[in-house]
Amino acid sequence: MTRRNEPEIPEPPPQDNDLELTRREFIAGAGVVSAGLAIGIAPAAAQTDAGSAHTVPITISINKQQRTLTIDTRTSLLDLLREHLDLTGSKKGCDHGQCGACTVLMDGRRVNSCLTLAVAAQGAEITTIEGLGTPDKLSPAQSAFLQNDGFQCGYCTPGQICSATALEEEAHRGDLSLVSFNTGHTNHPEITDDEIRERMSGNICRCGAYPNIVAAVRQMIRNGERP
Ligand code: FES
Ligand code: FES
Repeated sequence: MTRRNEPEIPEPPPQDNDLELTRREFIAGAGVVSAGLAIGIAPAAAQTDAGSAHTVPITISINKQQRTLTIDTRTSLLDLLREHLDLTGSKKGCDHGQCGACTVLMDGRRVNSCLTLAVAAQGAEITTIEGLGTPDKLSPAQSAFLQNDGFQCGYCTPGQICSATALEEEAHRGDLSLVSFNTGHTNHPEITDDEIRERMSGNICRCGAYPNIVAAVRQMIRNGERP
């Protein structure tokens, strides 16, 4: 209590520790909310208590099987496959979208699974190399790669085969590539070797098995079998 005419003693300023705690709490909360917004999750669904921050339950269809699990929102589709579901056919070459070793199919279109957030793959059908064929019944691309020795160490091969499978569908649809424009063949272009090289250029092979990869894709296209 203060007496009359006695100056009031002001409250002491907050200590650095208090400020630091407040700042940390603010950043943690803001981070969770903005991550939720960025991936299309309603803020209410972005969990804010410290124990479950950044995790979210997802249901995802992989090789025609529904899988439900809780993951960190930052998990890539590639890490979901390899680390959470033991589907290790898709390979991690660069983890930067540069090599194509992680290529999988999302609704039939090829994507780099290392650059795809697992949460963003919900609602799509994901097909990995494990879902393309069986040892008794290989897919057309698997069969063509086998018959043409389209691999050496095999590390890039699952991605190459997923890519070739999508290429088959793209060719069937009449999709164009840079080569199509350069050659002026912009109406359902024939899939020449140059077209194959261009369309497979996102898949790097460190063993340099390119001539046999091109031969495999050429055979697959000529046979016209679709998966
Ligand atoms: S691991 Fe995804 S592109 Fe290399
Ligand atoms: S076969 Fe070895 S990296 Fe392609």
